[in-house]
Amino acid sequence: MAIGYQRENRIFTLDTAHTSYQMKVDDFGFLLHLYYGGRVYGNMDYLLTCYDRGFSGNPSDVGNDRTYSMDVLPQEYPVMGVGDFRNSALVIRNADGSDCCDLRYVGHETKKGKYRLPGLPAVYADSGEAQTLEIYLEDKVSGVRVTLLYGVLEEADIITRSVVIENHGDKSVTVEKAASACLDFVTGRFDLLSFYGRHTMERNLQREEIGHGTYAIGSRRGTSSHQYNPAVIVADRRATEDMGNCYGMLFVYSGNFLCEAERDQYDQTRVMMGLQSDLFHYPLVPGEKLAVPETIMSYSDQGIGMLSARFHDCIREHLCRGKFRDASRPVLLNSWEAAYFTFDGETILKLAKSTAELGIDMIVMDDGWFGKREDDNSGLGDWHVNEKKLGCTLRELIEKVNGEGVKFGIWIEPEMVSEDSELYRKHPDWALRIPGREPVRGRNQLVLDFSRADVRDYIFEQICKILDQGKIEYVKWDMNRSIVDVFSGETEQGKVTYQYVLGVYDFLERMLQRYPDILVEGCSGGGGRFDAGMLYYTPQIWCSDNTDALDRLRIQYGTSFFYPASTVCSHVSAVPNHQTGRSVCMHTRGTVAMAGVLGYELDPEKLTEEEKAAVREQIRQYKSREEMIRRGRYYRLTNPFSEPCAAWMFVSEKRDRALISVVMLEMHGNMTVSYVRMRGLEAESVYRDKESGKCYYGADLMEAGLPMPVEQKEYPAYQIELIKET
Ligand code: GLA
Repeated sequence: MAIGYQRENRIFTLDTAHTSYQMKVDDFGFLLHLYYGGRVYGNMDYLLTCYDRGFSGNPSDVGNDRTYSMDVLPQEYPVMGVGDFRNSALVIRNADGSDCCDLRYVGHETKKGKYRLPGLPAVYADSGEAQTLEIYLEDKVSGVRVTLLYGVLEEADIITRSVVIENHGDKSVTVEKAASACLDFVTGRFDLLSFYGRHTMERNLQREEIGHGTYAIGSRRGTSSHQYNPAVIVADRRATEDMGNCYGMLFVYSGNFLCEAERDQYDQTRVMMGLQSDLFHYPLVPGEKLAVPETIMSYSDQGIGMLSARFHDCIREHLCRGKFRDASRPVLLNSWEAAYFTFDGETILKLAKSTAELGIDMIVMDDGWFGKREDDNSGLGDWHVNEKKLGCTLRELIEKVNGEGVKFGIWIEPEMVSEDSELYRKHPDWALRIPGREPVRGRNQLVLDFSRADVRDYIFEQICKILDQGKIEYVKWDMNRSIVDVFSGETEQGKVTYQYVLGVYDFLERMLQRYPDILVEGCSGGGGRFDAGMLYYTPQIWCSDNTDALDRLRIQYGTSFFYPASTVCSHVSAVPNHQTGRSVCMHTRGTVAMAGVLGYELDPEKLTEEEKAAVREQIRQYKSREEMIRRGRYYRLTNPFSEPCAAWMFVSEKRDRALISVVMLEMHGNMTVSYVRMRGLEAESVYRDKESGKCYYGADLMEAGLPMPVEQKEYPAYQIELIKET
């Protein structure tokens, strides 16, 4: 039984294969958090300590006992207004203007299978693989009822948390802040690992000690953002890739979020993940509900590498959906860096022809094929094919491309409208704008109010008309600005940011239902919406608009802490690179792009014969390794932020094959040798290097490593494929 409840002392225990999670309803009905970590067997309420603490208030229920305070006790779902002065998971503004919600236990229920969240993405599992615990809490005065949802995936070592807030009272209340998960630790010193960045430089790793005060990351941009990813690791200060305790929290949401980490006055730690409280004031009239998006949690006592593996498996098997979840993905050539806006039908066809010669499966026609779209200042919202520019209909173009033996994919950006567009001229009120104010532009475009069903319906119809024009097998869904003017004509003001995201999900869900055979790739100026919410709809995401191989090493390293390689789209592009001006050889570019879903972003006609041969070979090799990359276990072998080489490896599920990739980042006179220590091999098995034929014991490669060649050139890459000897 993954979920246990002891009636006598009202303790809940959630057990997975290697972890335990415990909480307790105390004598007054408060829900206290007791423990999360490696498997334990007893009741952990002995960890609770009570002392008279000055300036920490006591609930009236405890009478004269000054030792019982919500300010000190670990909470399962801390609320504002009951004497806990630390960060709150929930802030409710009552009809009388007070900010208080005194939540007490009123009941619980255990269910088979994993709960779902209508309209929101969430982890799914077969009914035999998961259990759900619902705990009901209520504030007697306002009638606010909170359901804490716990999904327990025993074998996967995953616990998910979500919260539904419902107004059972007779007056309206407003939700001012709502998290879906809180972890309170009574002991321990922790670091917080988070992933910050910017456009074309996403998900850099930052590791900071959680000190006194609050350390917060989040987004107010309407999307999860390039700047902070909605994912954090709480790690024991000594934890490394393969040692030590660590916890992961991953928010399954693509909009504004807030993660707060705090060490309190008694050196206890609280970390929370949930909705951003800025730009959010969610009114609930009597009878109305709000579902807070889910947080996925896992724990590892074997370091951060194991934690990543648990999240990779969870995303691959319990979050991504559809026909492409387990299928090999097409190697595609995207027209963006090959032609930008300057193309016609002939250009696309030419690209398709050279694509076929190289063994690439698909051509994607990126931005510029619709409306008046000669640059990025106009045309968004006018989803009709610019046949004049293409020189033919879309159907004809697709047929010609298919005639070359190449599949066809297309770019769209449904959430946007250009002021210079027919759509905006007709429906200026469809864009998010604050009345009486000029809107803030981003890439010279405005954001359509996707919180409104009528706006979504119209765009959906237009997009369907495009997708029905021939055999389109792939769609790149883009979103190219942050949202500023949060105001909707129809949706209640404080709800817009949340309802917008739900609107995007609704659109995507309808698209997937109608076109189950189309592979949809997520994108937001590269990796501005690379999150678990999008992965529920799009099994792969364009990782970054930066295609420079060296920068990509860091971006992909940061991405790998939570997201599996099967979700990370990575393309080989031309040199000098368009974002950095750097030139890196084709082999290194290919090695880096093979750390995810391989693709190309260049004009093949500009390649030398030698480079073309190298691309053909890359694709051949990639295809022979694709399953191991997509399904195998991924290991980070070095940290490219601090070590002279970047190294990572994939090991097949049966551990009979491995691919080690290394890129040398530094070159100095009389250069030192880098020894790359491997992971995940069978210690006593012998592995043969496919290329050199040399044989090694797994243990030898893991304990002592393999020396990398010293070559006098910049950024050489090495790929070593190992096959287990039988
Ligand atoms: C975004 C994407 C790019 C490309 C352009 C087109 O920046 O990330 O890959 O599609 O938009 O405008």
